[in-house]
Amino acid sequence: MFYYYGRKKQIAKYYPKPNCDTIVEPFAGAAAYSHYGSNWTRQVILVEKDEKVAEIWRWLIEEATAESILRMPDLKVGEKSSEFLHIIHAATKMAFKFRTIKVTPVLERNWEISKRKMAASVHKIKHWQIVCGDYTEAPDVEATWFVDPPYRGDSGMGYRHSSAHIDYESLATWALARRGEVIFCEGDGADYLPFVPLLDLKGVAGKTSREMIYYQSNRRPLQLDLLGDGLAHIQPSLTR
Ligand SMILES: C[S@@+](CC[C@H](N)C(=O)[O-])C[C@H]1O[C@@H](n2cnc3c(N)ncnc32)[C@H](O)[C@@H]1O
Repeated sequence: MFYYYGRKKQIAKYYPKPNCDTIVEPFAGAAAYSHYGSNWTRQVILVEKDEKVAEIWRWLIEEATAESILRMPDLKVGEKSSEFLHIIHAATKMAFKFRTIKVTPVLERNWEISKRKMAASVHKIKHWQIVCGDYTEAPDVEATWFVDPPYRGDSGMGYRHSSAHIDYESLATWALARRGEVIFCEGDGADYLPFVPLLDLKGVAGKTSREMIYYQSNRRPLQLDLLGDGLAHIQPSLTR
């Protein structure tokens, strides 16, 4: 829906399709997985601790229309903005630290694209729910849980609610207890769940980063519950 540092827009297609009627994103950000393909037609519950990010969702769900979005002013290179919705379009993880930002050519362009995208998609999310709070405040429902926290370590440090504030062992215990299925995202090196590689992402300056995934399904009846232990650990490559 909008530009967001760490969003899963480009790689949403590589994750397993949701098997449950409800999708919960307990670390919402811009919720690219819930928005992808026809996923948005499900019941979608977002949880986000950053009040400013949650407020964008509240506005999109409850107030915004395509017309009101398109009426928002364009940004011009060199001017300044203190609007958080503008600031996150600056394409830098430092964005969360800024109160005011000077519009760069990148920000001007990102905002122009985002306005069009938000206007075209806002009708898709009117039935979604947003909870502003900690991931543990998500409702205990059977769902496809798309768990995409700030990655452990440096790469998850940019956010206002960053990796420094997350107890990853507790998060893993909480995730394993979810009903339905769990799609859990991490970066290379994370070992608090048995992650497997999903894909390598090419970044700027020829740098690549590896996206990891842990998948678990506790759905009943469970097609893949051949071992009878109620747990099926599916390699994502088999589910594409
Ligand atoms: C990696 S981003 C999610 C990106 C998202 N999947 C997307 O496609 O845009 C992680 C998000 O989790 C939020 N967050 C951090 N700690 C949290 C917590 N304890 N509970 C809920 N949300 C949290 C951050 O503010 C950030 O928006």
